Amino acid sequence: MKLWGGRFTKPTNELVDEYTASISFDQKLAQYDIQGSLAHVEMLSKCGIIPAGDADTIKNGLKVVAKKIANGEAELSEENEDIHMNVEKLLIEEVGAVGGKLHTGRSRNDQVALDMRLYLRDTIVTMVDLLVKLQEALLGQAKMNLDTILPGYTHLQRAQPVLFAHHMMAYVSMFERDIERLQDSFKRVNRSPLGAGALAGTTFPIDRQYVAEQLHFDGVVENSLDAVSDRDFVVEFLSNASLIIMHLSRLSEELVQWSSAEFNFIELDDAFCTGSSMMPQKKNPDVAELVRGKTGRVFGHLIGMLTTLKGLPIAYNKDMQEDKEGMFDTADTLKGALALFAPMIQTMEVKKENMYQAVAKDFSNATDLADYLVNKEMPFREAHAVVGQTVLYAIEQGKFLLDLNIEEFKQFSSLIEEDIYQVLAPETVVNARDVVGGTAKNRVEEQIQSAENRWSENQQWVEEFAEKVNV
Ligand code: ARG
Repeated sequence: MKLWGGRFTKPTNELVDEYTASISFDQKLAQYDIQGSLAHVEMLSKCGIIPAGDADTIKNGLKVVAKKIANGEAELSEENEDIHMNVEKLLIEEVGAVGGKLHTGRSRNDQVALDMRLYLRDTIVTMVDLLVKLQEALLGQAKMNLDTILPGYTHLQRAQPVLFAHHMMAYVSMFERDIERLQDSFKRVNRSPLGAGALAGTTFPIDRQYVAEQLHFDGVVENSLDAVSDRDFVVEFLSNASLIIMHLSRLSEELVQWSSAEFNFIELDDAFCTGSSMMPQKKNPDVAELVRGKTGRVFGHLIGMLTTLKGLPIAYNKDMQEDKEGMFDTADTLKGALALFAPMIQTMEVKKENMYQAVAKDFSNATDLADYLVNKEMPFREAHAVVGQTVLYAIEQGKFLLDLNIEEFKQFSSLIEEDIYQVLAPETVVNARDVVGGTAKNRVEEQIQSAENRWSENQQWVEEFAEKVNV
């Protein structure tokens, strides 16, 4: 008989069981579900709602069930619909009818909202930890490449030279904001919905705050209808995950380009590449490509969740069971990508000489010639035109700016003197951008310093919260 079978006269159609059951995927919540039940039953006994002896029996039984599920010894069935009812059935099998007291003053509606929050806060801490490790790898590359110059691009055309360290630090900044967003969202996830019951609260004299404290929540979700209805914290997670994978995807794209023969700026370690079944010479950047490709499913889950929620009346509706698969898949996709990216970045070989040649064989110092003329009081617009003509001349001669002799320069402006060769050298060009956040070496060192300070704070955050969310 079903746990809710009392008012039914017939067994459920098998197809209905199959279609409505969530056990195939929500078993991922098993340990969180049991953690929540342990806190709930402790509260029931503290508040005198069930006898302490019964509570102890139930707690011991739940621990046995937890072990059995973890070891794959428990039989989870579609007939019991979801993880909540499967656990309750297993508990009753374990301890007898007294197990039926567990669900006093509780509904699956507040229970599932609780499980989702427990799962997500654990996931958020893991993701911050993985992002911190990725930042560590990027910071490592930045520190090793404070003298590595490569062309900076706009429109994928060489624009102005930058330090490779500066380029790495741009990603450190993006992932820093991703970490901030996750930490901020954690505050909203970290509230207990338990005690909201099915929708309106419960007639038993429960202590919601006590349950929240035991589970290391910052407090409760105040309104019972809101507590069981909303999944905005899931949307927020999916949105944060979308931004993270979008950032990863842009980095992926660069790794793919840079490791092509056309760029030849980096070489990814063999351990992070794969070969071709037909072409023996191939070494493909599959991980980066796949991460780029997986943005689609993550963005899709975000839109899917928003769409599921948009027309739902308050309070619980079965539609909301659709909140899980996308969330699990997103978390697994992100965790997999982040875990791979840190060592892939850490082990990549940076081909400094090739990067430097790409700068030397180019006109990316043209702005500096214009700025040179501006410093000699020529209006910038005029300087822009003069340099445009100089570049055109050089292209026609098959030369770059530094190949022109001083007479050739002077054809375009008499203001140009011998010191121009020093001004247009790649190192000078880079170090001339000596403004806050610019690519001058000392400015990049400043960025690294402040990023490392935040990095330590984030690592402490992970250590502090990892304990609280651990099941
Ligand atoms: N499996 C359900 C879900 O994931 C649990 C809540 C079911 N509540 C209900 N009233 N049917 O949403």
